[in-house]
Amino acid sequence: MTLPPYHSEVYQPEADTYLLLETAKTEVHSGEIVLEVGTGSGLISAELQKNAHIFATDINPHACRSAKGMGIEVIRTDLMAGICGNFDLIIFNPPYLPTPPDERINDWLEYALDGGESGRETIENFASDLCRIMTRFGRALVLVSSLTGISEVQKLFAEKGLLCFVVAQKKVEDETLYVIRIMRDLCRCACEEP
Ligand SMILES: C[S@@+](CC[C@H](N)C(=O)[O-])C[C@H]1O[C@@H](n2cnc3c(N)ncnc32)[C@H](O)[C@@H]1O
Repeated sequence: MTLPPYHSEVYQPEADTYLLLETAKTEVHSGEIVLEVGTGSGLISAELQKNAHIFATDINPHACRSAKGMGIEVIRTDLMAGICGNFDLIIFNPPYLPTPPDERINDWLEYALDGGESGRETIENFASDLCRIMTRFGRALVLVSSLTGISEVQKLFAEKGLLCFVVAQKKVEDETLYVIRIMRDLCRCACEEP
């Protein structure tokens, strides 16, 4: 696929984008309602849109413009704030790099990369609101890295009454990328269904 030139403050599709895209393609069923949180360029949503109903969000206005240009119905918001509805599949390639305050950069790309000091701050906020918009048998796919701490990420979803498993992984230079699949633990669900 030939990619359009993106705005310099929009995350350019990388190995993490493609690992999540390939995993999402095998996960999504025809006609499902899908939300991509933090769509960036819009590449993943544009590919999934071929056989599902896609909605997307991003906090970065340049990313929203890019995704809109790819034909995606995108809303500028913080994670899924203000989004109502029941989604069959929710996907997110979050900012996951552990970032000390003195290494922060002052532009929109910061939102693509900076996961706070632990690397898990945005993932934690996402986990807290996930059940509200996920159908009873819904799933989420989230990209994380060995730099983020895979067992710590699994623990934070477990604390919300969610099950999570690694469904894809790839070694890239000095990190391993993982896609985790998250579902309600119907035997022990700590979160209310919508
Ligand atoms: C690593 S980039 C991934 C972009 C794209 N999904 C991809 O895989 O190429 C993370 C994206 O999440 C967005 N993002 C970060 N924090 C966000 C938040 N609180 N609410 C909405 N979007 C956010 C960033 O602006 C960025 O576009």
